[in-house]
Amino acid sequence: MLVILCPILAYIFLISQQTIQQIQSRIDIIEIVGSFVKLKKRGSNYLGLCPFHNEKTPSFTVSPTKEIYKCFGCGKSGNTIGFLMDLEKYSYVEALRWLANKYNVEIEETAQSEEQKQLQQSADSLYIINNFAQQFFSNALLHSEEGKDIALAYLKERGFREDIIKKFQLGYNPSARNELAQAATAAQYNPELLQKSGLVVMRDGHLSDNYRGRIIFPIHNQSGKVLGFGARVIKNNDKAPKYINTPENEIYIKSRVLYGSYFARMAIDKADECLLVEGYTDVVSLHQSGIENVVASGGTSLTPDQLRLIKKYTNNLTIIYDGDSAGVKAALRGLDLAIEEGLNVKLVLIPGNEDPDSYVHKIGAEAFRNFIKENKKDFILFQLEAAITEAGNDSTKKAALVNQMAETISKINKTEEFTKRQDYIKQVSEILKIEEAGMNALVNKLIRDKVLKEENRNAFKPGPSAEMGTESTDEGLTFFNTDELNEQAFLRSLIEFGNNPWDESNTVAEFLFTQIEEFGADYMLDNTALVRVFETYKKWYEEGLKPTAKNFLYHEDRELNAMVINLMDYSTEISHNWKERYEGHIPTREELFKEEVLSTLNYLKLRKIKRLIAENQTVMEKSTNEQDQMLCVDMHIALKKLEKDLTGAMGTVIFKI
Ligand code: CTP
Ligand code: MN
Repeated sequence: MLVILCPILAYIFLISQQTIQQIQSRIDIIEIVGSFVKLKKRGSNYLGLCPFHNEKTPSFTVSPTKEIYKCFGCGKSGNTIGFLMDLEKYSYVEALRWLANKYNVEIEETAQSEEQKQLQQSADSLYIINNFAQQFFSNALLHSEEGKDIALAYLKERGFREDIIKKFQLGYNPSARNELAQAATAAQYNPELLQKSGLVVMRDGHLSDNYRGRIIFPIHNQSGKVLGFGARVIKNNDKAPKYINTPENEIYIKSRVLYGSYFARMAIDKADECLLVEGYTDVVSLHQSGIENVVASGGTSLTPDQLRLIKKYTNNLTIIYDGDSAGVKAALRGLDLAIEEGLNVKLVLIPGNEDPDSYVHKIGAEAFRNFIKENKKDFILFQLEAAITEAGNDSTKKAALVNQMAETISKINKTEEFTKRQDYIKQVSEILKIEEAGMNALVNKLIRDKVLKEENRNAFKPGPSAEMGTESTDEGLTFFNTDELNEQAFLRSLIEFGNNPWDESNTVAEFLFTQIEEFGADYMLDNTALVRVFETYKKWYEEGLKPTAKNFLYHEDRELNAMVINLMDYSTEISHNWKERYEGHIPTREELFKEEVLSTLNYLKLRKIKRLIAENQTVMEKSTNEQDQMLCVDMHIALKKLEKDLTGAMGTVIFKI
């Protein structure tokens, strides 16, 4: 079932591992990146102007040996595939196909299950059918008498230019019963798939066109393939629905579709802002006016998948709706999720009975742009103002409002969003005429509650502040960083030295796997991304691969490869003790790998023991019967002994910030 819901995923697994390896082995990062960015050699690296942000002095470096790029200005980094994904907005598979094409690697598809095969085939066929239909519709619009007289005339009367009509591949479905159905049948398309595509329906035993007499808006995916269609009546009447859209099928999944994203992606990236409107015609009109960073949601509230799609390009979302549209309410639903995801959401309402399409026609592109700029309202503050008006003088409602706003603001809870959150607290308190400190306390409490709830869900896990070998008295951050750095150091030693021999019969990786298993893997690593790195490494190892950092670099999961790039790039400061101990010759990490492996492992073990001790103590304090308490005491003694052994054994290496 999962496969049916995720045709895109099914697609990913179709390129065989051999093909991927073949592509990887041919990749020359300098050649690929160099075809987009002018690079100059500097030492062992190459340097150029970063294509991801505007800069005058180059801070974009490419390392041919590490096969990664990194910009010291904006922080973007990745491998060749990631570069293509970031710059060209390709998916992982699209980037692979691009590279395969460039290096003449034949793509081999892996063996699929019967079910997968059929799904894939039917998805492929649907794309092919849609492509056929799109051409049929375009042709009917631009070249048939009926199309020109009725549909093209209508579009032109509305002010759409021919170049834009062609760019968006608009079309027309003739009004006769089955012109498309006949053409498709003559071209031997499978009748069942034709029905699945929504283009035709079975009526009285015959295939008939579903969008008869309608203007056709093809809906494209990110790479420009036609997923489905929206079909609009030419003359509004009460009987027929204004639009008929493609039904859900293997390729058209409404909750994932953003109309116009194919045409908007570059502009969104460049403007670092995505405009969201309701309708197909709004998108087309704004494009025509030169405002290209715009997509449409189709009049429903934004779904998590659509948000994710937007987030791929930008963190700034500006919603443009008509003021009295029912759509505004719909759009505002689900936006809490956007805030939680860290998007900056702004809202602009178009005045009167206009919508973006009619309004831009009325006032012109320049004025429209200015209107947007000047009337952009922060979504959270907009919500607040609307609620205040609604509450009027009702004091209970007003009190509820304070809580509601605190709740919304508490969703801005990522560390890097601290300033943004404080800003909101200030502004909202001002508008509500309450003490800022009170609001602050309320928001913090909500965040704390949420964190606690989360922790409870993860059973006990005293959190990252368990004190560890550092003299700092500064709580929180410092401990956290030290902890995190040591987790990173642990994984780095695994990835870097995993294939080295540990003793006669085991490699470092095998040694570490057994150690961790014996010690109990739970709570050894806090950072979930690092846990995934560990588990991925282990899986590969067990499959007989000798994993290296490079395997991670080309992993399709961007979070994983970014994580590993950071790990391997991190230069550790050697602590003083090492320098003193090895006077003169400072040994390299390679020479000391056993020590590094042991000390990073022991750090994690020791941390876990400290946490267990703390946990045990809480249980002891809470328990009321003597037997339990005795058990706790025994446990305490055992843990303390373990702690002592480990402290003795632990190297003096502490990874410092
Ligand atoms: N919509 C739909 N089905 C309908 C009505 C609307 O799917 N029966 C969706 C379409 O995606 C449409 C959007 O909601 O584009 C906005 O609706 P509306 O403003 O009525 O349509 P417009 O596209 O703006 O069309 P027009 O400007 O021609 O009125
Ligand atoms: Mn409209």
